[in-house]
Amino acid sequence: MHQHPRALGLAPLSTARSAIPGAGIDIAKRRPVDPVTIVRPHAAARAARFFVEKFPGRSMYAVKANPSPDLLGILWANGITHYDTASIAEVRLVKATLPDATCCFMHPVKSEEAIAEAYFQHDVRTFSLDSLEELDKIVRATEGATDLTLCVRLRVSSEYAKLSLGSKFGVSHTEAKELLVATRQVADALGICFHVGSQTMSPDAYANAMERVRAAIVDAAVTVDVIDVGGGFPSAYPGMTPPPLERFFETIHRAFESLPISYSAELWAEPGRSLCAEYSSVVVRVERRRGNELYINDGAYGTLFDAAHIGWKYPVQLLREPDSDARDMDFSFWGPTCDDLDFMQGPFPLPADTSTGDYFEIGMLGAYGAAMRTAFNGFGSGETVVAGDEPMLSVYREQDDMQERRSTNVVKL
Ligand SMILES: Cc1ncc(COP(=O)(O)O)c(C=O)c1O
Repeated sequence: MHQHPRALGLAPLSTARSAIPGAGIDIAKRRPVDPVTIVRPHAAARAARFFVEKFPGRSMYAVKANPSPDLLGILWANGITHYDTASIAEVRLVKATLPDATCCFMHPVKSEEAIAEAYFQHDVRTFSLDSLEELDKIVRATEGATDLTLCVRLRVSSEYAKLSLGSKFGVSHTEAKELLVATRQVADALGICFHVGSQTMSPDAYANAMERVRAAIVDAAVTVDVIDVGGGFPSAYPGMTPPPLERFFETIHRAFESLPISYSAELWAEPGRSLCAEYSSVVVRVERRRGNELYINDGAYGTLFDAAHIGWKYPVQLLREPDSDARDMDFSFWGPTCDDLDFMQGPFPLPADTSTGDYFEIGMLGAYGAAMRTAFNGFGSGETVVAGDEPMLSVYREQDDMQERRSTNVVKL
């Protein structure tokens, strides 16, 4: 049984915050000067339970997607016991927040100091690597440890992903054999991992990657104990409606079952985005309007890094009744800093009468939004409130609704 984080002495969600029903509208009525972050613990809890119950293996949370200690506590309370950490600071954070959690250090290029601290001070036993050089580092830094789980990261295609992770890491097919054989000689347990890219829109991505895994295992003729399919599981954004997550899980399960590995081999995943995208949103204020451009008080150096740099489209919702004849029009946003790069092209559809002093909510910022916020140019602070209303989009809500309908039916019968 997993211990509830409160039992571990974790601080409850800050008491300075209040629960606000119909969160966005109520926040706008208070006319806050700075952006207000809305967190929805129930949404993260629902996502965690979904993975714990339905993914046919172990789900480790990829901490980089959102390292909020409150969020870590929610995921832990809902059954996520393992954490994919990719820096020593993330390892320290997880161990300070959840002392009983297991950290796996899944960055393929680490400093020897980080490996040594993780191994000797934080009990980390699982590391990823994609080169012989990194293998040497791990052996040196752990002083020849014999209790390691070492996951060799294969390079796989990001062709189905909205955000590629296909260039930086991963050993090529031609070099995989040598690395797998060498790692097998050092590792207590040998794993193979990959990442198909973030926001992957088709289960075929995992099926194809698993074929690369099969080829690597056959080629190297090694015994493999762990298959880690990485992250990449999609959330819902405007213009991006992914297939149901169960279809991804079924594809992965089928491929895993057909690999030439022993019955005792384990299946792991490292979801980041899909566990926290629905967790938070932000309420922003319009400070100026210039044509179809809105100057707002959050931006590229705040929670909208992806909107600025890779054109990510987040859902937006005006927090007042629009004029009755105002149709939606497409807007772009300028953030609060003095930098031309602080620009979010969108388009973001809002009622045509949106103007200075209006508030709107930008949704689905729980993954790689909140985590990217800086204090550049003096911006970046702001209140956080906890809300129990639904996120603007959800890949899990339909599931819950169906569940509810089913149980209601049972009661009626
Ligand atoms: C090694 C690793 N695992 C997991 C993740 C999480 O990916 P996602 O947020 O797409 O699920 C990332 C993201 O960069 C990663 O680099």
